[in-house]
Amino acid sequence: MKLFDVYPLFDITPVKAEASWLWDDKGQKYLDLYGGHAVISIGHSHPHYVKTLNQQLSNIAFYSNSVKNPLQEKLAEKLGQLSGYPDYQLFLCNSGAEANENALKLASFVTGRKKIVAFKKAFHGRTSGAVAATDNPKIVAPFNAGHQIVFVPMNDEAAFDAVMDNQVAAVIIEGIQGVGGIQLPTNAFLQHLEKTCKAFGALLILDEIQSGYGRTGKFFAHQFSGVKPDLITMAKGMGNGFPIGGVLIEGSIKPWSGMLGTTFGGNYLAAAAGLAVLEVMENEQLLNNAATIGSYLIAELKKIKSITDVRGEGLMIGFDLPEEKKSVRNDLLFKHHIFTGEAKPNTIRLLPSLAMTRKEADLLLNALKEELA
Ligand SMILES: Cc1ncc(COP(=O)(O)O)c(C=O)c1O
Repeated sequence: MKLFDVYPLFDITPVKAEASWLWDDKGQKYLDLYGGHAVISIGHSHPHYVKTLNQQLSNIAFYSNSVKNPLQEKLAEKLGQLSGYPDYQLFLCNSGAEANENALKLASFVTGRKKIVAFKKAFHGRTSGAVAATDNPKIVAPFNAGHQIVFVPMNDEAAFDAVMDNQVAAVIIEGIQGVGGIQLPTNAFLQHLEKTCKAFGALLILDEIQSGYGRTGKFFAHQFSGVKPDLITMAKGMGNGFPIGGVLIEGSIKPWSGMLGTTFGGNYLAAAAGLAVLEVMENEQLLNNAATIGSYLIAELKKIKSITDVRGEGLMIGFDLPEEKKSVRNDLLFKHHIFTGEAKPNTIRLLPSLAMTRKEADLLLNALKEELA
């Protein structure tokens, strides 16, 4: 059987990984500053993570959410403590798109409304249709039965105000737009969204799937602005490669049996992976490291002449290259063996492990200086 050919692939086959490093099947070593779309938060194959997962695998790997799973409770406890949201509730699922689906559905259940306000250039996932093809009234939220989604430019208060009314179930925004090229909402804009959502009885959803989990040096990117969203979605760095996602739900939102659900969400292996990630983040103070190395990288990148518009927070960094230097990402990979990400047309995206060292940062800076000389 052939694979369904939807991904543009580099001709590289990783067979081993450790911390910020990957090795391919030919023995070539690569510095990984992309982490497979921001997934590697604590570093590849961290010993505590590997040990925890192996132990869990030999105890119990899976049973459905029809029995108690104390690991989920431990994960929720630690996540509440480290994220600064101890009074929120946690719903566990398997991916970022699924976290957003559940957040939108929840907002629609809570408000009884179907209109959603989203922002241009945002990315929230690739699912569509599963609930729409279901007729169980307990599962189908008003949103699923004929929704309306309105897109406005980010950081444009007037455009946003023009579409807000008392039909809006939720406003959904990324903590920092990732796929859209590392674009930041201003603190003032986020504060305006919070205030306006409250005024109209709409819920504010912060999609922190790429920008959350310590990536910016704060647990969530929106915490620079002081807003408190009603719903926060997460995935990517949450499992350091193990598929797990979740929604943080403000404490007054009441669940009912069957309101949300999933087969695999929060299973024993996923919860063990999630807990191990948080333990490493806490023990190794990775938020501080992300802030320190991130500030260093941003300051040094700004000194390189042909790089324009360096932006980001912590270790979520984007910068633009001149048109004639379009080959730099490939040169970094094939000449210097450094993985980076991109956003079209000419933005390089850095989403390394939160444990990245200064020495690793210098390897990138030196390679860039050579390519851009
Ligand atoms: C901000 C954001 N939201 C949602 C998603 C979708 O996550 P997943 O691919 O796990 O479904 C992504 C993936 O890149 C993302 O960056």
